[in-house]
Amino acid sequence: MSSYKEQVDKSKLPTHVAIIMDGNGRWAKERGYNRIFGHQNGVTAVRQVTEAAAEIGIKYLTLYAFSTENWERPQSEVDALMELLIETIEKETSTLNKNNVRLLAIGDLKRLPVKLEEKLLRCIDSTSSNTGLSLVLALSYSARWEILNAVKNMAKEIESTHITADSITEENFSNYLTTKTIPDPDLLIRTSGELRISNFLLWQLAYSELYFTKTHWPEFSKECFYEALCNFQQRERRFGK
Ligand code: IPE
Ligand code: IPE
Ligand code: MG
Repeated sequence: MSSYKEQVDKSKLPTHVAIIMDGNGRWAKERGYNRIFGHQNGVTAVRQVTEAAAEIGIKYLTLYAFSTENWERPQSEVDALMELLIETIEKETSTLNKNNVRLLAIGDLKRLPVKLEEKLLRCIDSTSSNTGLSLVLALSYSARWEILNAVKNMAKEIESTHITADSITEENFSNYLTTKTIPDPDLLIRTSGELRISNFLLWQLAYSELYFTKTHWPEFSKECFYEALCNFQQRERRFGK
């Protein structure tokens, strides 16, 4: 049997794949480890999938790494996740550059620990002229935060921009979202079996194809990613027409 990678039709790739990376905790618990061990192994999957996306020619990959609601997890888990993010971003910057990957971030970045924000901005800056895959990390992100934030900023600028209530369009509203330079996802993947969106990209997912798999995130391999692409390529997208 040929691999899923060989079955992907490169002329019909999704431009943007977004992933809710779920199940690190359950993966670890099932093996008798603590949740942090699951997050550490989740980094391996991030590396694999980023490489897979870059190799096959995906233009945008968005990874939901930490939600607004995740701040309410036990402080020890939050601290461990922040530490892991700091380490990973530092360690992976050279590989991102080697693979021509540009890093972007969406979310309420000001809430992140200063050290993480600094590392993140440094990596974003260092990879900004790469022209291959754009890897978008959603950090301290939630869609309701983003939409409210957009409404607030739009309201503040309403006088200076000549926008009137009646002239608000999908296009000018989208320009206030953190994803303003990023096309909407064509495909959303969620690992680990939960069938929900968990406050991710609510505006942008309007017409995305949804793909759910029971595989826990630490076990999500390149082949799992290519399998999702093959599944996407069998869908008929009608956009209501
Ligand atoms: C996803 O795995 C990682 C983050 C949300 C940071 P979880 O930590 O949600 O793992 P489960 O869903 O509890 O198994
Ligand atoms: C969604 O996973 C958030 C991230 C993957 C970062 P959660 O594990 O936080 O979501 P729920 O609690 O299952 O909805
Ligand atoms: Mg979870």
